Amino acid sequence: MCGIVGYIGKDNGIDLVLEGLKELEYRGYDSSGIAGLGKSQDPFVFKEVGRINNLENKLKKQEISSNLVIGHTRWATHGKPSKNNSHPHYNNSKNIFVVHNGIIENYLDIKKELIQKGYTFYSETDTEVIPNLIDYYFKETKDFKKAIKMALNDLRGTYALLISSSLLDNRLFLARLGSPLVAGFAKDYIIIASDQSVILKHTKKVTYLEDFDLAEVSNNKIKIENLKTLKTFDPKIEILESNLTEDSLNGFPDYMLKEIFDIPETIRLASRGRIDSKKRLVKLGGLDSVISQLEHIERIIIVACGTSYYAGMFGEYLIEELADIPVEVVLASEFKYKKEPISRSTCVIAVSQSGETADTIAALNKVKDFGVLKLGIVNVIGSTISRITDAGVYCHAGTEKAVASTKAFVSQIVILVLISLRLKNVSSKQTKEILKELENLPAKIEELLAKKEDIKKISQKYSKYKDFLFIGRGYDYPTALEGALKLKEVSYIHAEGYAAGEMKHGPIAMIDSNFPTVALIGDDSLYEKTLSNVEEIKARKGPVLVITSRVDKKIKDLVDDLFYIPRSSNYTESILTAVFLQLFAYYISKDLGLNVDRPRNLAKSVTVE
Ligand code: G6P
Repeated sequence: MCGIVGYIGKDNGIDLVLEGLKELEYRGYDSSGIAGLGKSQDPFVFKEVGRINNLENKLKKQEISSNLVIGHTRWATHGKPSKNNSHPHYNNSKNIFVVHNGIIENYLDIKKELIQKGYTFYSETDTEVIPNLIDYYFKETKDFKKAIKMALNDLRGTYALLISSSLLDNRLFLARLGSPLVAGFAKDYIIIASDQSVILKHTKKVTYLEDFDLAEVSNNKIKIENLKTLKTFDPKIEILESNLTEDSLNGFPDYMLKEIFDIPETIRLASRGRIDSKKRLVKLGGLDSVISQLEHIERIIIVACGTSYYAGMFGEYLIEELADIPVEVVLASEFKYKKEPISRSTCVIAVSQSGETADTIAALNKVKDFGVLKLGIVNVIGSTISRITDAGVYCHAGTEKAVASTKAFVSQIVILVLISLRLKNVSSKQTKEILKELENLPAKIEELLAKKEDIKKISQKYSKYKDFLFIGRGYDYPTALEGALKLKEVSYIHAEGYAAGEMKHGPIAMIDSNFPTVALIGDDSLYEKTLSNVEEIKARKGPVLVITSRVDKKIKDLVDDLFYIPRSSNYTESILTAVFLQLFAYYISKDLGLNVDRPRNLAKSVTVE
């Protein structure tokens, strides 16, 4: 989604901001732009639709430099991708510039009032009202900071804002409400971004803005005022802990494939230092501070979105089976508006790769004052969710750049296994068995990945179909849902995930020779039941691809295609199946010639509701 980068220092910051914007490319965007103040404070703004290279090429032809630069990558929310709709946006006098992440919900009302006052608008965006509103109040008060405060007071919605102006002497304003902003203190400059990955290359000394903060930045200092508490303070400096592993392609053609091949190492990283298999113990330092509270938990609510939601469903099965605590998994976007009784013995666990998903943050904010324990399972260190939860466990999956989540999904499941074992005293025999399975899992995934050419062949055979059904039972149910989501995301093919037992209650009506089913048949007590579903599909001429670890002549003769995954226990087997399905979606997308890392209309991190 939209990304922000800003620079204020002694040198020319244009290249640095462009580099930062490129760092944010993986989040998804459709246009980009930068604004700065040239010699004698002459403002300039350049915007281009499409790749950042377009903007870069445009800038190469200009003879400009600026020691105060703001930049933005836009993911369209209000109005189509176009130069006019791209950020930075400016006021009618073109001397106030704004980049904005988030959504201003009452922008139409504000726009109407400004039009009545004589302002004109060139874009369809919500953001364009902001520089004009500041302009209006500045003309009234002649005090820039006061004008910003008055403008912010009128806005309803969410924002991370960088505001620059040729009316100011080398100062930049930042404001945050519900959308992240972090500022880094490098040796001779300050760099600001919506994502700390941009900052890491420059410095580890950072400060995170909190909601209602308005910060005034000059080239070597920041002063913050919180507009809710009305307190003014120096920034709290934190040292960025980095979990960024090597994030170059490493010889792979795309990030999605690279990240799928990272999975064995991801599992090792998620469990490193957390498992003592000799003592049959799980140690999760991140939960130490709340361990006594955890012992009294009687109900767990998992909130998440997208792929993380399916990892959460996996968690439901795991925690209920292993820790014997009732679990509900709720889509964060539903949870935040749902009225339900929540007692203090409830624990809310937010699962999120980015730690910045707006709906998941809103779900946590909803229970802020309920006195419940809030935990996070988050990949990005220092992200908003990791900071607003009481405690949590990091995934340590390293940067995930492809929009479709792969390795983060697997690491979330591994963390959920570890949390399940830490929740209540699972018998030491069972803990030992589970930890052994986890230890063996990376090697089994490597065995599966070694068969990538076979998986590619099967996928190519299926890339011609327009609809798919994915079915499974038990742990294979969330796996089927995630498999269907992966295919939709990267290949734009219609795919539905279903609990195999529900097939007769509707989806079977769609089955014909053009509607293939991917059937996940775990080698467990439900094997025969899912096999019957496959027979029913075959009786209706539906093509069937089965993923299983059980070698059984009966299936072999029955289905069109069969892929054997290495034998493992129930949920670890579903993890192997999930990896197969990630590759299946990947190869279909490649076969269709699509951009697998950046599928159309999607964003890596959805920071608006
Ligand atoms: C977006 C991404 C998905 C991700 C979801 C939740 O839709 O494209 O891959 O699963 O957001 O993101 P989170 O960062 O909270 O896991």
